[in-house]
Amino acid sequence: MDIKIDTVSPLDHATPALVIGCFEDVKDDLYNACNAALDGCLGRLADTREFNGKVKTSYLLQTLGRLPAERLLLVGLGKNKEVNNERLRQAAGTAIQALRSARVKSFSSALHLSTSLPEALEAVTVGTLLGSYAFEHYKTKEKEERFSFKEMTLLLTEAGGKEEAVARVDRASILCQGVDLARDLVSHPGNVVTTGYLADTARELAGLHGLEFRIYEQAELEELGMNALVGVGKGAAEPPRLIVLEYRGPGAKGRPVVLVGKGITFDSGGISIKPGAGMEEMKTDMAGAAAVLGTMSAAAGLKLPINLVGIVPTAENMPDGKAYKPGDVLTSLSGQTIEITNTDAEGRLVLCDAMHFAQRYKPTAMIDLATLTGACVVALGHEASGLMGNDQRLVDALKKAGELCGERVWQLPLWDEYGEVMKSDIADLKNAGSRDGGSITAGWFLKQFVGETRWAHLDIAGTAWSDKARPYCPKGATGVGVRLLIEYLESR
Ligand code: BES
Ligand code: MN
Ligand code: ZN
Repeated sequence: MDIKIDTVSPLDHATPALVIGCFEDVKDDLYNACNAALDGCLGRLADTREFNGKVKTSYLLQTLGRLPAERLLLVGLGKNKEVNNERLRQAAGTAIQALRSARVKSFSSALHLSTSLPEALEAVTVGTLLGSYAFEHYKTKEKEERFSFKEMTLLLTEAGGKEEAVARVDRASILCQGVDLARDLVSHPGNVVTTGYLADTARELAGLHGLEFRIYEQAELEELGMNALVGVGKGAAEPPRLIVLEYRGPGAKGRPVVLVGKGITFDSGGISIKPGAGMEEMKTDMAGAAAVLGTMSAAAGLKLPINLVGIVPTAENMPDGKAYKPGDVLTSLSGQTIEITNTDAEGRLVLCDAMHFAQRYKPTAMIDLATLTGACVVALGHEASGLMGNDQRLVDALKKAGELCGERVWQLPLWDEYGEVMKSDIADLKNAGSRDGGSITAGWFLKQFVGETRWAHLDIAGTAWSDKARPYCPKGATGVGVRLLIEYLESR
């Protein structure tokens, strides 16, 4: 969708549809002016409770020539005092869903004018762009009838501020491109997004943004001693790989932040095979990798003044005569030995080697993202990612970033006692304990591979994919992690 900025009063502006924000309580000048132009129609809608400004609601009406805009779309903002950036993103998303239903391709928005929040324009742009996402890559039929948005015009009332507005819209677009890259990678099936495809994507990003790119192929991984990562990939036709991207921000000195993303392109469970029902969702088991690639792209596009390294251990987890199996013992890159008690606990294996490897960058902080455990979905459902770590300041910074950007996280404890079930009789560790506290015991396992590094772990098993549509996140891949990490990186 193209985005334009125009300095004109919404009341004098011709457009197929004008979007305005409405509060439950306060009626602002623009609302009152529209109401007057429409002979009190908006007041009537409130009286009859057809539309009263509640969040996540909207109402589309024809103006019949009483306004230069052909249609007016009212979008609920809730209570005036409660408006924040998240509300605006949700309102913009609600608007875009209503416009999609009415098949209105081009429209103008005055939503951001309802508040004086400095980031209102950015929030509205983000909500609009993310809400307009659709993954139709594999739909071959009725192409002509398929709907896509053409243009949004953001209205400014004061002639000043245009330059700043353009900069804010640019920022929002770059951020959303990163989120949509992550969504696309997760939406594509496992027969397309292979370990080689992830590597090619990273290589392309490197070319586009001037990043350092390095790929470690299977032979090198074996030579290095990354036997946990290699072990997981043994049963697959597509080889395991380790992908590294390095971004050096303008003027940035000092140690980098390192991001590590789980890149299991399909998780069948391996020899400890998963039940068939719902197994197709396991194409999303590379959502951590997708978030890392999307964040690298956005960070570079935004020219953030930081050093950042993105590491993606990637493999396919399949059963086969050559596959790793329960009872096997793997020697990880760190030297710690791991007894395999369940080949479906593969994420922590590919991560533990990548996280030990990451220490060669002497990170100032390390954050890993992974669709790691079903237990996290049981604990938190789909409203928050699990968060664990060994440094409360880092954890708190991620919590704050989550509140601000609307990608919520919830901290779980990592007390040493949780590790008891992860001890093996014949090796240093086993890769799976009991079902109890499964998200935490997985986090505890990862903690054994970070050394002294300040580290946080995000379990995105419940948040990477959504079975229901949300205002600015359609059903399917959410692209979770990208906005959270950018918000965190910008706050440093
Ligand atoms: N990729 C799964 C976790 C998952 C479950 C992601 C549901 C998204 C939705 C992970 O590899 C896995 O299979 N974990 C096991 C661990 C167990 C064997 C210790 C699980 O959670 O059951
Ligand atoms: Mn698994
Ligand atoms: Zn998995």
